[in-house]
Amino acid sequence: MEARPMRPGYRTYGGAMYLTDDLKHVTKIVLQGTAYTPSDPEFAGALYVFRSGGVYEAVGGPHTVHAHYLDAALVTTCIREMDADHPFRRLLSPFTIASLAVTFGANLSIANDGAILERFGGFQPEGVKMMVREWTKRWRMESFADQLKRKGTAGLSAEAYPYGHFAEKLSYIFDKLADDYMDEYWPTDKDVAADAGLQAFFKSYHDLFPKKTCPNPPPPTCATRATLRSMTSRFMFAVTAQHEQTGNTADSLLAYDAGFVSVPAHGSLKDLASLQPSKQQRVAVQYIQGLTSKHAPSLYQADPKDFQRFLLPDCDPSILKRYMARLWRLHTEVSGFKVAHGIELRPMSAPALDPIDLKIAVTV
Ligand SMILES: [Fe+2]
Repeated sequence: MEARPMRPGYRTYGGAMYLTDDLKHVTKIVLQGTAYTPSDPEFAGALYVFRSGGVYEAVGGPHTVHAHYLDAALVTTCIREMDADHPFRRLLSPFTIASLAVTFGANLSIANDGAILERFGGFQPEGVKMMVREWTKRWRMESFADQLKRKGTAGLSAEAYPYGHFAEKLSYIFDKLADDYMDEYWPTDKDVAADAGLQAFFKSYHDLFPKKTCPNPPPPTCATRATLRSMTSRFMFAVTAQHEQTGNTADSLLAYDAGFVSVPAHGSLKDLASLQPSKQQRVAVQYIQGLTSKHAPSLYQADPKDFQRFLLPDCDPSILKRYMARLWRLHTEVSGFKVAHGIELRPMSAPALDPIDLKIAVTV
């Protein structure tokens, strides 16, 4: 991140954080080759700069490039090219319909040349492009549970890794929904491979990917239920849990605990107030959120009739009933964890994975 070019007047983002073996304490922060330890007067400022870069990276990478661009926007585009009565389009529509509402405003206000990503942040346009390329490179069509396995962090307890523990459960709920739905429409791999609509969707999704910068684009064909499950589960996770876990931009700014858009270069690491965003910048981010935010239904719905009406009339209603029952179980487990650990019971309090709080599609 430190290699990305900044505009004059803005401090370079990024750096390195060193932790104790139990990951509980920071031993030093290194910014552009200079180390700051907890006894240094600059330490709080160095932590602030590092954290601000982290917030930018979370919002710019897994949130914007992945959840918005490569998952929501491209899938929504390809799904809308399918036959309106194709069962795959019917299943994904509740997860894409709100994306249509937010994409127009977000494109104008956030992603266009000269919009918020370029105008507000400290990066030069080339710095923004480097970020987009970096995160395009990291995209893979894998479920969240498979991602944890690849990284060696699957199966950890709620105490060791609260987000990973509950997010893994949510990922399996999406897998199970995909399995139940495939049992209804594509009971075998052969059925998947023979479905012309599914093959057209995968070809179209593959073709839209920026393949020069993405070494792992979605495959151009889908021959097995396992591939269809990965695509479905990943997509549902990306537009719900991943989008909201990485997207509380306004919260970060309002809490005054991250620069997000920029850290002024003239600020001193010994004086936190001198590093924080200006009032105008904070107000402007609130405007952007106000202009682009669209609410979507919750992921969990006590009565799934509004979800069921997206599906074909002959689709077995017990599929959604079982899916909602699993989400409700996850809700009770997350709430129980919060109560046991004295975490405030409010929407999106950590670990921010309650299916009642999560939205069914990307919002702002
Ligand atoms: Fe978003």
